[in-house]
This record gives sequence, structure tokens and C-alpha cells, in this order.
Amino acid sequence: MPEETHSLKLRLRQLGRAIAVMNLATVWLLVSKGPKVAVEYLTQSARYFHGFGFIWRWHELPWRHHYRLPKASAASLFPGVDFDHSPEVWFPFPRNLGVYTHELGVLANVVNRLQPKRVIEFGTAEGRTALNLAAYLPAEGELVTIDMPPKPPTNYVGFFYWNHPLKSKIKQLHGDILRFDWSTYRNSAGVVFCDALDDYEGSREETRIAFGLVQAGGAIFWHDYGSAEGVTRMLNDLSRELPVCHIEGTTLGCLAVPDEHARERLCRWSANGSER
Ligand SMILES: C[S@@+](CC[C@H](N)C(=O)[O-])C[C@H]1O[C@@H](n2cnc3c(N)ncnc32)[C@H](O)[C@@H]1O
Repeated sequence: MPEETHSLKLRLRQLGRAIAVMNLATVWLLVSKGPKVAVEYLTQSARYFHGFGFIWRWHELPWRHHYRLPKASAASLFPGVDFDHSPEVWFPFPRNLGVYTHELGVLANVVNRLQPKRVIEFGTAEGRTALNLAAYLPAEGELVTIDMPPKPPTNYVGFFYWNHPLKSKIKQLHGDILRFDWSTYRNSAGVVFCDALDDYEGSREETRIAFGLVQAGGAIFWHDYGSAEGVTRMLNDLSRELPVCHIEGTTLGCLAVPDEHARERLCRWSANGSER
């Protein structure tokens, strides 16, 4: 899809969401406090409307009645890892739309155990997960993370690691994941973390790319199972074909890739969008 059409569709969707949650309070804020506050209010309302907030009411949202992924404890998926203890985590306080601290702990524990030469993250944002996973890589390991090109002065991609000693282990890529040329990274990552696109089609495409990048013996993780509708529905459908799990107590989906046979299966899926 051409970039302009994609961004027009995105803007129309945002406008639709804004209209859906518009109310008198927005108008009052617009008049009394100006457009910045009104837009902020609309943004937060749209997020609640789409289920990012009110965790205690998640079970009432219709699309959350259809969890399909089997639940598995982190310990059963990665035997030998001590998930009863947290690894050291940098910037543990919750971040808006970011991974929960205990999810960072799970991911860091897995990286610490697998000691992959490369981890690939889709969606850098502030770089909090990138930094925390880089901390547990082996000496020669690298964390490759991608986000859209910076748009100064409002874009702070990766700022958590900008001045951090671990910066040398992080390779920041800029570009659209769906258009990026991933050929040099094929079959090279011990862990792939999908955390960029949250609509159904986007997250499915992200998944298709991830399948071509992961190595045998590695694992793929998705953020937002149960907290973003698109990702949740996409993983539900994927679980009809592949053994994806929902890690108990988290919003992480996980697919372990135990051997070459499993990896080839993912490559076929990646090429065809299904196993056929
Ligand atoms: C939820 S945030 C990522 C959070 C980050 N992984 C963390 O744990 O802190 C999603 C990020 O994905 C980026 N993103 C969304 N669509 C993208 C695309 N098509 N290509 C590259 N980056 C994208 C957004 O700019 C945003 O910074």
C-alpha cells in the first residue's frame, strides 16, 4: 500500500476514534483550555474505549471473551529459568502503553538463559525494553531494534539508552518494519519481540517477518495479547495453525522454536501467510 494511502487510512481511523469518544467535556476543554488539552483528553478516552485502560474491566469487553491461546507458565515454557526471582531491571516504573515490569523480567530472564547472539525488537519507542534486553546478552551479542525515522523535535526513539553504557550493544534501525529489507537478518535472531503494529493486518505482517528472522532454538514474543484487540484476534487465529501460548499473568504471547523442523514450518508460513 502506498505510504500516503496508509497514513490517510491511519488518520481517518484516528478521526473516527476521536468522534466515537467525543462528548461535551471535550468541547468544554477545547474552549476553556485549548486544543492540546482537548486532544490529550480525546486520546486517553479513545484508549479506554478500545480497552487499553481499566484492566479490572477487561473481562467485560466482548473481544476478550474469545481468548484462544492456551495459557502456559513462563517456567513450563523455559525450564531451568528461575522466574521466581526478578533480574535487575532499568527504569522499572510503568510507562504509558509500555510492557509491564514483570513482563520485562520474563523477557530478560529468557534472554539471560538463551544467550542469543542477536535479539530483534519491532518497535523501539523509548528504548526501555531494548536497554533491558541488551543488558542480558552475551558479550558479543547485539540488540537490533527498529522504529519509524525520527521526527525532531518531538521524537525520542531510544532515549533511555542514548547515554547509557549499554548503547554499544544496541543497533537502532529506522524505517517502516513492513518495508524494511530484512534479508541480511534472516534466520539470525535467538529472540524476536513483536511490539510495533497493533491492528490485525499489521501485527500479522509483523509476525510473518518475525518468522523469517528467528533461529532454531529461539523464541518469538508478542506484546499486547489481551490488551490490544488486533494483536489478540491475530494470535487467536494463529493458534489454529501454530502452538502459540499466552504466558500466564502477562500480556505476552510466545512461540518457542525448538528445532530446525519448527523453524522451517515458520518459514513456510512466512512465505505463504499460512502453512499451505
Ligand atoms: C508500543 S511501542 C513499543 C514499545 C517498546 N517495544 C517498549 O517495550 O518499550 C510501539 C512502537 O512501534 C512503532 N511502530 C509502529 N508501527 C511501526 C512500523 N510500521 N514500523 C516501525 N515502527 C513502528 C511506534 O512508532 C512505537 O514507537
